[in-house]
Parts: sequence; C-alpha cells; structure tokens
Amino acid sequence: MRLMGKTAVITGGASGIGLEAVKLFASEGANVAMVDFNELEGKKYANGSNILFFQADVSNRESVDRSIQDVIEAFGKIDILINNAGISKDATLRKMTIEDFQKVIDVNLTGVFHCTQAVLPIMLEAGKGKIINTSSIAGVGGNFGQTNYSAAKAGVIGLTKTWAKELGRKGINVNAVAPGFIETDMISTIPEHILMQIKLITPSNRLGKPKDIANAYLFLASDESDFINGHVLSVDGGMMK
Ligand code: NAI
Repeated sequence: MRLMGKTAVITGGASGIGLEAVKLFASEGANVAMVDFNELEGKKYANGSNILFFQADVSNRESVDRSIQDVIEAFGKIDILINNAGISKDATLRKMTIEDFQKVIDVNLTGVFHCTQAVLPIMLEAGKGKIINTSSIAGVGGNFGQTNYSAAKAGVIGLTKTWAKELGRKGINVNAVAPGFIETDMISTIPEHILMQIKLITPSNRLGKPKDIANAYLFLASDESDFINGHVLSVDGGMMK
C-alpha cells in the first residue's frame, strides 16, 4: 500500500500504459482519477468509489480545467499527476502535414502544460506533490518518421527539468519516464518484422509491457523517490545505452 491516502490524476488512463497505472495505483491504496478523451473505454474501468472517470481533451484548456475541478469535488485533493496521455501521427519530414505536426504537439506537449498548470495551485497550497511526465525513447534520441512526436517528447524533457528547478523548493517533485517500445495500441501499426528487429537491438531482448512503465510511475509517485527531481528515467530494456 505505497499510495495509501493519496489521490492521483492519470491522463490517458483509459487504455494501454495509463490503464495499467490506474489499476496499479488503486491496488496500492490511491484514489485514482482517470482523465481521458475516450469515455466509452474509461467508463468500463471506473468503479464509482476509488476509480472515477473524467472526460477531458488534454489539448483543450477549458476541458482540462473543468475535469480538474470535478476531480477536486469528488476526491478533495490531488497529490499525484501523471501526464501520460499521448498520440502519434507518423510520417517522414517530406510527407508530414502541418496539421499532423501541430496535433501531436498540442496533445503530447501543450497537454502536459495545460494539465500541470491546472493542478499546480492545488499542489502549491498543499506544499507537496509529485508530477510525472511521459517522454519517450524518441524524445531522447529521435526516431525515423516521428518529427512531431520526437519534438513533443523532447519538449517534455525540457519542461520536466525546468519545473523541477522552479517547484522543488515548494515540495513538488517533477520527473519524467522515457519508455522504449511498449506493447499497446500505439505500436500496433508497426509491422511484425520491424518489431522483431527492435527486440534484437534491445539488450533485454523483448518489448516492454504496460506494467513496466506503470511500475516506474509508481516509484516516482511514492515517497521512496522524494529526493529524485528533474530526472528522466529510461524504461526501455537498455535500448538507449
Ligand atoms: P494508448 O494509445 O494505448 O493510450 C493513450 C491514451 O491517451 C488513450 O486512452 C487515449 O484515449 C488518450 N488520449 C489521447 N489523446 C488524448 C487527449 N487529447 N486527451 C485525453 N486523452 C487522450 O498509448 P500508450 O502506449 O499507453 O501511451 C501512453 C503514453 O506513453 C503516451 O504518452 C505515449 O506517447 C507514451 N509512450 C508510449 C510508447 C509505446 O511504445 N507504447 C513508447 C514511448 C512513450
């Protein structure tokens, strides 16, 4: 029960990594607010008590503000924010449209800004908090066909380090997780032979599972990581080494 008495907001909590984190955090004693665009999926896992669903588009400030207000009405406080919602719209630079570039920035980077700014007054008043942002191996090293995604995820690293410097003295820890290739819907369009190659160049010789990332979120959300701030934790089977 490493999160007993805590309240966590997990964006993108309706599927993949986020959903795994919702279940893990609830099993560790937290009240969990699953904030996601996808109401149909999210409501399947809400239980009316310690897991509640709140619909929001993280790229839209009004929508984010409304959902955070609703979370406060339901649970009374927010101790942990996991900025996990994300999308990809891949194409090489030659073929990428400005619309697809902008959309990925809006969700994966500006969405992190909106959610954190909305939650910040609550954490500042409490004098403590844990913010965990989701970057990517693509934000650390770039990735073919992911100009938009890599730029957003590299931006997430920049704001994580900046916020750690701004907010550390206020009792708020801000860290990021940089997942490698994780078995979720997001990589379902990658052809099997490419996934085989990815496994071969991964020292751990496998793809990641949502639980691998949820475990990292849990550590960074728990009291065990109180002196870790501004860190980017690679959870990629050793791929970026
Ligand atoms: P997923 O596609 O399974 O889940 C993403 C969730 O975000 C979905 O529930 C979706 O409805 C929600 N979402 C999308 N746009 C939203 C918006 N505008 N507002 C609110 N919710 C929105 O993807 P997965 O793999 O679980 O990804 C989670 C995070 O991990 C993302 O930030 C992703 O970029 C990151 N990541 C994933 C990797 C992978 O290999 N699966 C690798 C590196 C990073």
